[in-house]
Amino acid sequence: MGEADSQAVTREAAVEATNRHYDLPPDLFKTFLDRRMKYTCGLYERGDESLDEAQEAKMCFIAESLALRGGERILDIGCGWGGLCHFLAERYGCTVVGVTPSRVQIRHARDDAERRGLTGRCEFHCGSVYDPDLPGRRFDGVALVGVIEHMPDHRAALTAATRALRTGGRLYLSASCFRNRGMFEEYGTRPASRHVTDTVFGFGVLRPLSELLDAAESAGLSLSTIADLTPHYLRTIDEWSARVAARREEIDAMRPGMAEELLRYFETANVGWGRTTKHYAFTGIRARMGEAVVGL
Ligand SMILES: C[S@@+](CC[C@H](N)C(=O)[O-])C[C@H]1O[C@@H](n2cnc3c(N)ncnc32)[C@H](O)[C@@H]1O
Repeated sequence: MGEADSQAVTREAAVEATNRHYDLPPDLFKTFLDRRMKYTCGLYERGDESLDEAQEAKMCFIAESLALRGGERILDIGCGWGGLCHFLAERYGCTVVGVTPSRVQIRHARDDAERRGLTGRCEFHCGSVYDPDLPGRRFDGVALVGVIEHMPDHRAALTAATRALRTGGRLYLSASCFRNRGMFEEYGTRPASRHVTDTVFGFGVLRPLSELLDAAESAGLSLSTIADLTPHYLRTIDEWSARVAARREEIDAMRPGMAEELLRYFETANVGWGRTTKHYAFTGIRARMGEAVVGL
């Protein structure tokens, strides 16, 4: 989707459109995602990891990016089916609040938290990043993992996310991006891109990283790290693609035509990586001076 189009879509219309995808039965997504149902890029550090291992490595990378030591309060905006929230509560003893506008995802995340004995440490709210009741100045860390692409007003989203952090708290964001503004304008509205952003996800916009960084700076973050995860997403999507191809009939029985829709999305994504598109992660600190340095 191009810039002019994305600005014409209201926040509410975008949420309604993406909910049509995320409210599909969790069993459908289980056919191709890892066991924690992470709907994002994994991390293949060695190269021979399984999808489960790659997604676990990615969650550890997020925890390191947020400088977690244990027991922190974390807000996961666009938490999907709650995989990262459960992981951080289990592995790092964090208290986690997950937010997503999909009621189906919320139900799944709560049920899974209960099954894992995490009810006291994981809370899930059905809502949007723009909700005025998003708690302010409360969190040590905020995560936005593959979510900003669904938000027509990325500046307001980053301002709200930053406001939720205590002073010195960290924000982790990862997103799929066009390589630069020229590619965004040239390729964003092509039929293959539209298939991914509009047909599959309902609403999506892959802004260049420079625009996300500008919004993060304007929101009051001091930027501390940037990582290029592009090859890791290519590999993740190869895995998803093989799984969908192997379980095509099962998927189509749940939603006719869905297997082909997904395979076309995966093919477009993997042709684009590194040429027209990138997948980046960055971290920012809500602090005037950025990282605190002992003695200074
Ligand atoms: C690609 S999924 C990523 C899920 C999860 N972060 C992960 O890494 O697996 C995008 C998520 O963003 C959520 N989302 C879409 N619009 C949102 C909004 N306005 N506020 C909060 N979450 C939103 C969707 O419902 C979905 O859960």
